[in-house]
Amino acid sequence: MSRYIQVGEHIVYHGDSIDDRFTRYCRSLNATFSFADPPYGFYVEKWDSRFYWQHDYLLDVSPIVAVTPGIANLQLFLRQTDMPYKYAIAYYTPSSTARSLVGYSHWICATIFSRESVYHEIRDHQVIHEVSDKRYNHSAKKPLEMMIHLIESFTAPGDTVIDPFLGSGTTLIACQKTGRYCVGAELSDSYIEMVQQRYNDHVRDSNDVKRKISVFPGWNK
Ligand SMILES: C[S@@+](CC[C@H](N)C(=O)[O-])C[C@H]1O[C@@H](n2cnc3c(N)ncnc32)[C@H](O)[C@@H]1O
Repeated sequence: MSRYIQVGEHIVYHGDSIDDRFTRYCRSLNATFSFADPPYGFYVEKWDSRFYWQHDYLLDVSPIVAVTPGIANLQLFLRQTDMPYKYAIAYYTPSSTARSLVGYSHWICATIFSRESVYHEIRDHQVIHEVSDKRYNHSAKKPLEMMIHLIESFTAPGDTVIDPFLGSGTTLIACQKTGRYCVGAELSDSYIEMVQQRYNDHVRDSNDVKRKISVFPGWNK
């Protein structure tokens, strides 16, 4: 049974991000940016059993969409989407221990889509020095620094960011740190718990400015 959960100032849908209940809510939000980190279809995890992109609606609900399809899936993904491709940003992660089909992988490709031109002052590459926080064990967790860079590049404080594959909640923490609101979706019970734990740990340990909680209208319908 799907449900919405409030995590601080952010909203998490515990269910499938192609559900009407989630996409309808996204349409009501006036979000400025969506980030999607879909399954790669490598069958290394239970959640990774297929790769079938059904999320072009993200470009109807936010003017800019970034997707990290995984290097090996890039061609497949570009064939599955009709969103207009603009460019890609390479996030170089020298301390990463992630494996790809060809061995250790030290970069993440973030593809950017929009119907408008998106010529921000953004370099096409960025070095990420972060070492992964072992407390949150999700095999596809993205660097927090990368998410902060994407969010600060494409949104302003107070904006809403949508993430239909929330995983361990990196996008939600990046929104919390930068003063944006996150609306995410995640299928798995254990990752939903991880997102809540990660948020609680972050709020307890951080010096982020405490903001007044403003609940999104309509999220609990
Ligand atoms: C590649 S991971 C995302 C990792 C995330 N960016 C992070 O930093 O932790 C994809 C996640 O999407 C979830 N997922 C897969 N299909 C989904 C769907 N249709 N709706 C919602 N979540 C889904 C999986 O359970 C998995 O946790």
